Amino acid sequence: MYEHDVIVVGAGGAGLRAAIAAQEAGADVAIVSKLHPVRSHTGAAEGGINAALREGDSWEDHAYDTMKGSDYLGDAPAIETLCQRSPYEVIQLEHWGMAFSREEDGRVSQRPFGGLSFPRTTYAGAETGHHLLHTLYEQVVKRGIEVYDEWHVLNLAVTEEERPEDRTCHGVVAYDVATGELSGFKARDGVILATGGPGQAFDHTTNAVSCTGDGQAMAYRAGVPLEDMEFIQFHPTSLPSTGVLISEGVRGEGGILYNAKGERFMFEHGYASNDGELASRDVVSRAELTEVNEGRGIEDEYVHLDMRHLGEERIIDRLENIVHLAEDFEGVDATKEPMPVKPGQHYAMGGIETDENGETCVSGLYAAGECACASVHGANRLGGNALPELIVIGKRAGYHAAGKEMEPAKIETGQRGEYETATIDSPVELGEGGSPGDAVADGGAVAAGDPADPDTVLNATVRAEQDRIDELLNKEDGVHHSEVRSKVQQSMTRNVNVFREEDRLKQALRDIRDARDEYQNVKVMDPSRTFNTDLLQTIETQNLLDLAEAITVGALARREFRGAHWRAEAQERNDDEWLKHTMLSWNRGSPELWFRPVILEGENKTYEPKIRSY
Ligand code: FUM
Repeated sequence: MYEHDVIVVGAGGAGLRAAIAAQEAGADVAIVSKLHPVRSHTGAAEGGINAALREGDSWEDHAYDTMKGSDYLGDAPAIETLCQRSPYEVIQLEHWGMAFSREEDGRVSQRPFGGLSFPRTTYAGAETGHHLLHTLYEQVVKRGIEVYDEWHVLNLAVTEEERPEDRTCHGVVAYDVATGELSGFKARDGVILATGGPGQAFDHTTNAVSCTGDGQAMAYRAGVPLEDMEFIQFHPTSLPSTGVLISEGVRGEGGILYNAKGERFMFEHGYASNDGELASRDVVSRAELTEVNEGRGIEDEYVHLDMRHLGEERIIDRLENIVHLAEDFEGVDATKEPMPVKPGQHYAMGGIETDENGETCVSGLYAAGECACASVHGANRLGGNALPELIVIGKRAGYHAAGKEMEPAKIETGQRGEYETATIDSPVELGEGGSPGDAVADGGAVAAGDPADPDTVLNATVRAEQDRIDELLNKEDGVHHSEVRSKVQQSMTRNVNVFREEDRLKQALRDIRDARDEYQNVKVMDPSRTFNTDLLQTIETQNLLDLAEAITVGALARREFRGAHWRAEAQERNDDEWLKHTMLSWNRGSPELWFRPVILEGENKTYEPKIRSY
């Protein structure tokens, strides 16, 4: 067994920033990640980091834009913390040597992004995430922080009290990809999940194949609620054939969207008469699909994004990466032709319920970054607000897990107003789904010894995971996980997309339930113990099934149109009934739905919901 004060799971922006903070706070910290740090999906982030740095801008304006962008489903205290702290964290990155794009006078450049009232997005060409990741990794190396890379975390070691609030996380169990060794990693002070989003639940996504929501699924099964899972962001400009992201930075620099008739539809069809292409993402994605659905799409599938008028010099200076992506993945020279683009799954606004310090309701368990929901994005994230979340909340989670109080959360998890329970209008029986994680969270794994003793909990979890692996490897016959996974991915893209209808959501839930049944019979074809990606992807598929179900159950429950969640049956935002967060708790294999109120009261003002137009 390995042992450290703080274990960070995942080595993207949030994980690296959390590890640096925990080390600064004096902890012996280690990162355990299924990927080498610089292969993390943060490296695919292109556009930038929002921070109110300039004269004429303010964190208050950033907070207002973020609350409006969230369609009033973000929590004001968390949003204000994000916007107040982002400038300091960007300056910290700059001091650590991050290669930001700059103006002639040496200042860090900032460009317009969707839904922003000020050009406040700092960037490094169209490779901001890549530079962020490398800057943070340099700090990790410099500080001698231990990194167990290509160790795939399979489960959390959590005690088994009845109420999640009484449970404690003592570490994780991870599988060494190179050797097949399974080991416990004991965390004396805390575990921080920074494992990214569940984009692979969809088959057209900007997300890497590694984005399988592992941390979300593990926390959910350990009893931590998932919050606002129905809010999935579809980025308006992904390449049709692969889903590869074409940055919003293209539109920020002046790129224009055209339909098949050559119309600049964002203005000409009145989708966003003021901001046009720079309306928030949910608005632009709906506009594009409306154009396609009404017969004005190109090849009945996509629209054009044109940046030729920016001129080659500016394109190469600020967007060179985009030229390469369009060439390599679509065969288009974007300096001479428009690029084909369509909406693609990009980001999960919801996730593991945390406060603004990354703390969950399970003692010793934290989460930060896309896997978490500190409620800074609400129903729609603004472009350029993901990376600040990684560095602001990641840092706070690191300090807190190491036991250093930076400042208490303004509103702590578990003190967020009255809970409201609910029932799920489901076409299928949701109970008895079963999942490997039940073994610990729902009792059964802690067989011998004191159930509160960390070593006992760790050892029992290792044994349960070993049993799971042996069972998967030794099955005589069965279905391959890829069949199960692709059915769910296709159903999610077909039925839980930008436009959502009750019947389709119910169909998705039926498909997920069928897939869960099929998964009971899943077989790993590769018997080897080393580099067995077949085994690991089979385990990831289980995570995706649980999360696809959570997304769909949330979408079915929320009968209103808010932010990225459009419902055919209820085409208006309904603040009287739905100004509340959707919460899902794992109840022995079945999602239990409840709600908690949105917090609109900030430090000095209340953000009254207004009509949202761009
Ligand atoms: O469009 C982009 O460059 C993506 C940015 C983001 O998701 O924040």
